[in-house]
Amino acid sequence: MNIKTGTEISAHSPIVVIPFSQGELLEGQLTAVAAFAGMKPEIVTKEFKAEAKESLLLFKQDSGQKIYLLGLGKAPKSADFIKIFRSFFYHKRNVSDASVAIDLVSGQLEDAAEFVVNGLLLASYKLGAQKTHRDDKPDFFKSEFDAELIVSTEKQSEVAQAVKAGVETAETQVRILALVDAPANYKTPQQLADFVLESGKSFGYKVEVFDEKQCEALGLHALLAVGKGSIENPPKFLVLEYKGGESKTIGLVGKGVTFDTGGVSLKPGDNMNYMKSDMGGAAAVIGTIELVARLKLPVHIVGVVPVTENCIDGLAIKPGDVIGSYAGKTIEVINTDAEGRLILADGLAYLKKNYNPEVMIDLATLTGNCIMALGYAASALLSNNDALAQQLIDAGQETGEKTWRMPLWDDYKDMMKSDVADIKNLSSAPIAGAITAAKFLETFIDEHPNWAHLDIAGVAFGDSEYGSMKSATAYGIRLLKNWIVRHYL
Ligand code: BES
Ligand code: MN
Ligand code: ZN
Repeated sequence: MNIKTGTEISAHSPIVVIPFSQGELLEGQLTAVAAFAGMKPEIVTKEFKAEAKESLLLFKQDSGQKIYLLGLGKAPKSADFIKIFRSFFYHKRNVSDASVAIDLVSGQLEDAAEFVVNGLLLASYKLGAQKTHRDDKPDFFKSEFDAELIVSTEKQSEVAQAVKAGVETAETQVRILALVDAPANYKTPQQLADFVLESGKSFGYKVEVFDEKQCEALGLHALLAVGKGSIENPPKFLVLEYKGGESKTIGLVGKGVTFDTGGVSLKPGDNMNYMKSDMGGAAAVIGTIELVARLKLPVHIVGVVPVTENCIDGLAIKPGDVIGSYAGKTIEVINTDAEGRLILADGLAYLKKNYNPEVMIDLATLTGNCIMALGYAASALLSNNDALAQQLIDAGQETGEKTWRMPLWDDYKDMMKSDVADIKNLSSAPIAGAITAAKFLETFIDEHPNWAHLDIAGVAFGDSEYGSMKSATAYGIRLLKNWIVRHYL
């Protein structure tokens, strides 16, 4: 499928999709569309209310063209466009074996071209990479057909730019969805490193991969400790760097646990399969840097991604073990299932020491407690900087990736005190788990004054039309890109 722009609906487009939002203008807009289709306006205005996801199929009287009216609800935001177009085209992908015109003029929605394209292309994503039977249904996205955005002449060049942004965003997201949805035996630390090396080569950013020996030499003891449960798939430490300009350095850290069994503190079996998504933070960091590089944004950005499995082996760390860390602090491992904070501790300390970035943001599927507190609607945000916290909340509000701030007060600090080491990795009280995890991380940022932690446990993996079980969401990529555009360009 190719994406084009045009200024008039061609009589040769067998399918026309016309989105509408609710509001005062709707009736007039539908009246015009009814005239175009050769129908009585009352019929159209009665049958179609432009509710979110509502669609109505009309047949144009003279040509027989199919016209789908697509509802967006009231005052749709970027995420609504993306979700509704994704869902509409996902369900139509096998029947749309012909070119489509998407008319953005009739509903006065030309400003949303980027998100229309983003949603359209996300509909091309499919689960089932490991299925062996060939799917030979017609597929719009694999065909030579066009999707043509119909816009006004004045807006055509502006829209062409927006289309490019939508395409780059969606292509990155689709790659990241596939990565997060990949089974753990298809994305071992080595395979994840290869993915990033390939991405860096394709899109123009630098990637360093430190293997176990090099991690040892660097002193990444906390990462290595978690990795000891996986002799065959040893940990990797990835550093991604994109320099598109002379901005202050943006530092990102992502939790890259390619599978979390819990280790010796083994998790219960139910839904443990979902723990293949425990690298959702790493995916957000990799996706953001790939997208920033594709868009050639004039910023300097460094991503640090510790990657490991959390498995069980004779050599695996045991509850009560004391381990070292890159920062030099000793850690008592109360529970081996609190592994994310261990590898992030090394990631954060490494980033601070080697790059001293202006800002440090880490993303991690870190705690079940985050889901207890916020459910699946928002990530938890913990930050030592009010301005940064507000920037991230606002950026996510705009992209539809909600985040909600939790306190980082020192009231919670003592809960992480260890009798035998500098700090322990789990509080003895089963309360405020998302906060105490963040207090643990705070110990390893070396008093950096501009740090934020996003606990994305509830939002990295979720329900969607892609499948009957949970699947990847690519949460964080649009949020971070939007935040970078707002504050670093
Ligand atoms: N990866 C999990 C957190 C998680 C849980 C992410 C559910 C997504 C969905 C993390 O490593 C973990 O195991 N956290 C435990 C810690 C506790 C058992 C010590 C938790 O929060 O339940
Ligand atoms: Mn765990
Ligand atoms: Zn985990």
